[in-house]
Amino acid sequence: MRSGRYVSIKVEPPGPKAREVIEKDSKYLMQSYVRWYPLVIARGEGAIVEDVDGNRYIDFNSGLAVLNTGHLPSPVIQRIKEQLGRFLHYSLTDFYYELAPMYAEKLINALKWDGGKVFFTNSGAESIEAGIKVSRGYFKGSRPYLISFLNSFHGRTMATLTLSASKTIHKKYFHPLLPGVIHVPYPYPYRCPFGSENEDECAERVIGYIEDVVFKKVVDPSEVAAFFIEPIQGEGGYIVPPKRFMEMLRSLTYRNGVLLVADEVQSGMGRTGELLAIYNFGIKPDLAALAKGIASGIPLGALVGDGDYMSLPKGSHANTFGGNPVALSAADATLDMLLGGLMENAKKMGTYIKTRLLELMDSSRIIGDVRGLGLMIGVEIVKDKAKKVPAPDLVEWIINHCFKRGLLIIGGGESSLRLAPPLVINRDQVDEAMEILVDVIREAETLL
Ligand SMILES: Cc1ncc(COP(=O)(O)O)c(C=O)c1O
Repeated sequence: MRSGRYVSIKVEPPGPKAREVIEKDSKYLMQSYVRWYPLVIARGEGAIVEDVDGNRYIDFNSGLAVLNTGHLPSPVIQRIKEQLGRFLHYSLTDFYYELAPMYAEKLINALKWDGGKVFFTNSGAESIEAGIKVSRGYFKGSRPYLISFLNSFHGRTMATLTLSASKTIHKKYFHPLLPGVIHVPYPYPYRCPFGSENEDECAERVIGYIEDVVFKKVVDPSEVAAFFIEPIQGEGGYIVPPKRFMEMLRSLTYRNGVLLVADEVQSGMGRTGELLAIYNFGIKPDLAALAKGIASGIPLGALVGDGDYMSLPKGSHANTFGGNPVALSAADATLDMLLGGLMENAKKMGTYIKTRLLELMDSSRIIGDVRGLGLMIGVEIVKDKAKKVPAPDLVEWIINHCFKRGLLIIGGGESSLRLAPPLVINRDQVDEAMEILVDVIREAETLL
């Protein structure tokens, strides 16, 4: 068994209590979930998670990039408690409450989005759905097409599923999907879809394909309402596109009057050291979809956009729960925490983790690529560094062995590890986590 300053593994997981929960879960819940390993959480604090058998782990998942402020952040809990003493719900669809415009103004100011407006939702998929309706609605139906990227993930509702193209299992059995969606390659620098080894060249090849093939042979750009893009692909493996690509895409959308919608559901709310990941590229989108980290784990999402675009007519879009007052209170306190030092810590800790991983990559036979911004870091595992052969079996082995030793990480894309600790993580916790990760990767190398 293992114990460190933060980690404590007393019973090999899953312990007896965990096994009981898992058995009941499989009896009563539809088993369409992924479930990376048998972690049954009992409580959390900051960057530490405890399971039902009393094992303690360092959390590099943040509940899927949601708990940016860590587990049980006290300013957020305090604001939630205050709101619980006032009212729990009173649908924004039909009535008003002060908290909604108050938080919307604060979010717009924090995003430096002059003239911006907000629509509140309950999830990432719902924020993207809102983005589809707002962009098609803005053109009053005259531009029915939407373009998204291969290897992207935008959600699991029928429309967001259509935009996504990371795994066929997401769509299998569910066709027909939304008409009018076209997928184009994403400039994945490590595996450029056009075979280029140079980032800028890869960016130019992808943009060239959109202009010379898609816009000339597939759809006229005057019929395209919007591009939907993850500024860093999340589910796809934490892939950072070249800066040149983001700049070229922005100018291509301006030239053609097409909206640029940033899916910031996973990359947003400070995770990359900026409130929106796309700000790292010096680019402002027309619309941005938010969720996950916005309210520290209380379900909330938002679509933010220029007021001109956020102009759907009365009665054309709404929801019952979007902008729930408890969720907005949590969001308000979350934003204060992010602006009050957590984004800085994300940059600092992110640089530290990446530097250590890049050092490890030099001497490792299986680390093909290390990438990411802030605390959104991808590590691509390969069987052969020269040939870049994917190693999904090694990824699975590494993830499971990290779990057994007290570090929680998951995979992404075909063959990558996703590292997404809470933004409150400190240097000692990172050091203990890295010790586990390095040991496990070194052992994985011996399996080849
Ligand atoms: C980039 C991105 N967009 C959209 C979604 C969908 O969000 P939700 O699961 O809250 O509907 C996700 C979820 O993982 C995501 O990572």
